[in-house]
Amino acid sequence: MTAETIHQPAGSGDGVRHSARTEVLEGRPVNLDGFVEEWPEVGMVAMDSAFDPEPGVRVHNGVIVEMDGVSRADFDFIDQFIADKALDVETTEESMALPTDEIARMLVDPSVSRKEVIAVTNGLTPAKLLEVAKKLNIVEIMMGMQKMRARRTPANQAHCTSARDNPLQVACEAAEAAIRGFAEVETTLGVVRYAPLVAMALQIGSQVSPGGPLTQCALEEATELELGMRGITGYAETISVYGTEPVFVDGDDTPWSKAFLAAAYASRGIKMRFTSGTGSEVQMGNAQGKSMLYLEIRCILVAKGAGVQGLQNGSISCIGVPGAVPAGIRAVAAENLIASAVDLECASGNDQSFSHSAMRRTARLMPQMMPGTDFVCSGYSATPNYDNMFAGSNVDSDDFDDFNTIQRDLQIDGGLRHVKESDILAVRTRAAKALQAVFGYLDLPPITDAEIEAAVYANGSRDLVPRDVLEDLKGAQRVMDRNITGLDLVKALESTGFTDMAENLLAVLRQRVSGDLLQTSAIMTPSLEPLSAVNDANDYAGPGTGYRPTGARWEEMKKLRHVTSASNPEMEVE
Ligand code: 5AD
Ligand code: CA
Repeated sequence: MTAETIHQPAGSGDGVRHSARTEVLEGRPVNLDGFVEEWPEVGMVAMDSAFDPEPGVRVHNGVIVEMDGVSRADFDFIDQFIADKALDVETTEESMALPTDEIARMLVDPSVSRKEVIAVTNGLTPAKLLEVAKKLNIVEIMMGMQKMRARRTPANQAHCTSARDNPLQVACEAAEAAIRGFAEVETTLGVVRYAPLVAMALQIGSQVSPGGPLTQCALEEATELELGMRGITGYAETISVYGTEPVFVDGDDTPWSKAFLAAAYASRGIKMRFTSGTGSEVQMGNAQGKSMLYLEIRCILVAKGAGVQGLQNGSISCIGVPGAVPAGIRAVAAENLIASAVDLECASGNDQSFSHSAMRRTARLMPQMMPGTDFVCSGYSATPNYDNMFAGSNVDSDDFDDFNTIQRDLQIDGGLRHVKESDILAVRTRAAKALQAVFGYLDLPPITDAEIEAAVYANGSRDLVPRDVLEDLKGAQRVMDRNITGLDLVKALESTGFTDMAENLLAVLRQRVSGDLLQTSAIMTPSLEPLSAVNDANDYAGPGTGYRPTGARWEEMKKLRHVTSASNPEMEVE
């Protein structure tokens, strides 16, 4: 068969008579998605490969000498790192002796506390955690997540990017994302040299009233660390780890080099988490025949062993891979649960497009949105899909009203709220004017009033006034050469009359000195207080307990773009 005949839709000349029903089904967007049979030998299997190891552990003289059927002499570097840094040698034999069913039940049972579960998971090997996950159906995975996420209050994270790397657009998107409720906003670039200007724009836009969101600019590691150290960004997240040694080495890394990088961030009080996810090892051609979830659990334990506060996982950029195999989306939900179950903060995916089907996109989101996670999306696109430089998200700016409606329908908190258009235009305008003023103050290429007008009212970069890219790139280089820092941005805002924004940004920068942002699941609230697993620990213990949207938050969630008023049916309350 040629490639053409393989892709030919039924009913379009394959010589067979099809029913009208089949023709309709063939035309549905879901049939543009890719599906493959399981192929365990290359790792194309979600969570159940015959080549996955049997769980087991042996400790001798305080050292793990055998783990999951491999003796210490035969450990690869991931086994060694997990055995030495992630597992609790004191308790591992006892925890591993517990029947898998019992551990799975502890995860689901509301009368077993989060703390009690963690006391057990601290000693579990990758193969044992996999066996536990395999016991759980999708609803039980959600039950587990409801209890095991670290922060009591769920939150969300946005992508603020521009297909033209236009800093003005990014500033406006960050301000809108902040007022819509996102706790973290992040960007990345088409042209990497634009990064300093775009990262500055993100930082400034995010601190328009109410302020508070932390920002990230995903770049090559050295530049990303430098921007963080300068205080132009507030967190780092795309520090990738992988589940097989050859794939790890492909990235010129080891668990120790990643742990070293993590320590560099921590030394400056910069929030950081690792990134991993099912499918990366298959995609990079070296899954060693193991299931995607088994390999991901190894990544989760590398993150734990490195001592980082959390993990962005849930397949992330590889979602097409688990999305194509049976039970793949269940495995993705399970990887988020396991990250939470070993006491890591979890930014739970939903950050890359994987399906043409609106129903599938929603179904993929529910296992995180229903129970709530630390960051339901580790990248909700605050822009239209075409502007998303992280390659498109599972949910975009076009989906804001749908997302808010689902929150309201099910009374679940995905971290967002509906905001009146006039308020959105106001914060976009303020972000744009602040960026214009800061560019002027720092002698960067000017931003015109016409550009601002276009950016404030834009849907995406297609609606913008183009910038002089060459001049911008020279300006970006000057930001680096002149060693501009977050404090310079505070000074620039203060000196140009944006005092409230200067104060917001200073408050965010000050948190790094106190170290509070290094706590698991730390975010900054709109009142500029850190909220984390320390002062907002998840206390779910069954019906009527834990976080529930109530009071002012629930009132805010009830508001949508169009709601008919009962007292005056003619009138819509916005
Ligand atoms: N495993 C490891 N790292 C990943 N990233 C995305 N998906 C994965 C994954 N499954 C990281 C990469 C990418 C960034 C967006 O996140 O570094 O560039
Ligand atoms: Ca992210």
